[in-house]
Amino acid sequence: MTISVPGRVNLIGEHIDYHDLPVLPMAIQRQVSVTFEPRRERTIRASSRGYPPREFSLDEPAPFPPGDWGNYLKAAVQLIAHRWTLTRGIHACVDSNLPLAAGLSSSSALMTGIALALLRANDIYPSVGELMELLPEGEQFVGTRGGGMDHAAVLASQPGSALLIHFSPFRFEPIPIPSDWTFIVAHSLTVAEKSGSAKLEYNARRAAGLNALRKLGFPSYRAALDRHCPSQLADLAASLPESERDAFLHVTAEADRVKHAVTALRANRIRDFGDLLVASHANLRDRLRVSNAALDELVDCAMDGGALGARLTGAGFGGCAIILCNMADRDNVCAHLIEHFYAKHPGFSAAEHLLVAEPSSGALSA
Ligand code: GLA
Repeated sequence: MTISVPGRVNLIGEHIDYHDLPVLPMAIQRQVSVTFEPRRERTIRASSRGYPPREFSLDEPAPFPPGDWGNYLKAAVQLIAHRWTLTRGIHACVDSNLPLAAGLSSSSALMTGIALALLRANDIYPSVGELMELLPEGEQFVGTRGGGMDHAAVLASQPGSALLIHFSPFRFEPIPIPSDWTFIVAHSLTVAEKSGSAKLEYNARRAAGLNALRKLGFPSYRAALDRHCPSQLADLAASLPESERDAFLHVTAEADRVKHAVTALRANRIRDFGDLLVASHANLRDRLRVSNAALDELVDCAMDGGALGARLTGAGFGGCAIILCNMADRDNVCAHLIEHFYAKHPGFSAAEHLLVAEPSSGALSA
């Protein structure tokens, strides 16, 4: 049996899912596949090309050393064993064509794939909503305190559509992407290791946003946004320490951009959508400070090459940019990136680092 879980790219709504604000990602055609056999003994045995094989009992919670891929497997097991009774284990072989540490959710796809394989081996078929109550917690086992965007996108995306995801309560809505819009995913050739320093930086952004909220006396970002317009919020935040103020301003402005992006997408206004991507990148760079020089250069290069919008996607600190252009301009934009960005940066492979993202199906919506 094989379970395939796609990667995802976030179109807009960055670093706000963990504050329970809506985001707009989509699944892509690259995926993690878990081919597995149910086993009578309650152990997991897993192999994956390029990694040491891992084997452990379902009852053994102690993690592997930090950075070990086996921790994603353990996280998946712990989450589902907490909720369901597992009588069988699996032997699994993991294969992936998703770039790692690129901001495309390879770790969530792996964790979700193992969780679904183990559930299926035990004849358990939960809904997306049930899985969403558990899977986002799993990232904590590997260090980041992420939100639920990645798991929702890789489970519930629909072909041809972006997925508008709401949290608390969780719900989602596919929004068709007009056929002449194209999204390109371009790698900056710098990586963000989730178990390394990017993890600390990521968690610090979340903490700064939460401290700001607490100091301003709001119970949630949603409450702040319901009560005040963005300029009033900016006035209120002026008294906060710099990093908290900047996190607060990023979060509130990005939430507003998601709202406008959804309107632009529904109305087929590609230029408006592109402008929102550019504004999002500027905030991620200058306020939240999660970009790096390579991502900034890549985004600028895409815009010079005829894109209508571009920004870093995912947690940042390296990884990929998402680039929007008209279908008719796609080849020119890609050629411009190859000539003016990739020619200057060693290690480029077109198959691995530059892809046209096809809005794809999530693992449970096929
Ligand atoms: C990572 C996390 C997501 C989200 C993004 C930033 O990908 O896993 O939950 O917070 O960063 O938007």
